[in-house]
Amino acid sequence: MKPIIFSLFDNGSIVEAFHHDKAYEIGNITLHQFPDDESYIKINSGVKDRKVILMTSLDRPNTKLLPLLFACETIRGLGAKEIGLIAPYLAYMRQDKIFNPGEGITSKYFASLLSKYFNWLMTIDPHLHRINKLTEIYKIPTTVLHAAKPISNWIKEEINNPLIIGPDRESEQWIASIAKNVRAPYTVAEKIRRGDKEIEIFISNLESYHKCTPILVDDIISTAKTMLGTIYHLKTMKMKPPICISIHAVFAGDSYDELLKSGVEKVITCNTIQHESNAIDVTSLLMGAMKNQVINE
Ligand code: R5P
Repeated sequence: MKPIIFSLFDNGSIVEAFHHDKAYEIGNITLHQFPDDESYIKINSGVKDRKVILMTSLDRPNTKLLPLLFACETIRGLGAKEIGLIAPYLAYMRQDKIFNPGEGITSKYFASLLSKYFNWLMTIDPHLHRINKLTEIYKIPTTVLHAAKPISNWIKEEINNPLIIGPDRESEQWIASIAKNVRAPYTVAEKIRRGDKEIEIFISNLESYHKCTPILVDDIISTAKTMLGTIYHLKTMKMKPPICISIHAVFAGDSYDELLKSGVEKVITCNTIQHESNAIDVTSLLMGAMKNQVINE
């Protein structure tokens, strides 16, 4: 029997690709929200003794988590053999230590919760910073995929003379490999975060790159303050209008509009979270990895 994939919430183009692959069956699930915000779950496809995959990006995680866990519990109750989770964007990866006394380490709690429900997890570029590997906090097998190659291909096809810029030290892990693939120079900014929305950015030695198109690459755009701070700094340095690339289009509040109005040339994201800025398709990463992961019964 083929593995069966249930798509929860909106995974648009990614699910579409799995739909066309004869190796999988797309399961039918009814997810309904009652007027009081409680969730109703109904599994309309047979799952007994089958390998089941639930797919959802975990942006806006507080709203999605409970229906996801209920779906998992329902499927388990119906006799599924195993249940894996494909979360192209994995949330709760940033509060990975106690910064101030009394704080919770939510990365750890979230990981521990998902590990209780799922047999495995697959994701793309989780925000690994102080945690080196997902298995440090997840107790289930995890597969981590990287969007560096599709991003590099996009830059190679679309941009002449790029300068790849990472807005902070953490971004160097993506920037360095993208710059290598594209055969372009790269630089990493110094970022001082003074709060959720207050950021200062400084990049040294930009003088020799005035003829380049700055390409800002980050894993997440949430409030967009990191990108906006970097764009502001580039303007003061009289650089060309930059192109912003993010793997995960989280875009909190009005941040996308704010970014578009900031003098940026373009804002481009991968389709790990469905958004109008999606221009880099990461579906093949997931499909390739799944070929190794799920063996038909
Ligand atoms: C930070 O550690 C991440 O890599 C991103 O730079 C950050 O999450 C972006 O957040 P925001 O858009 O809120 O500045």
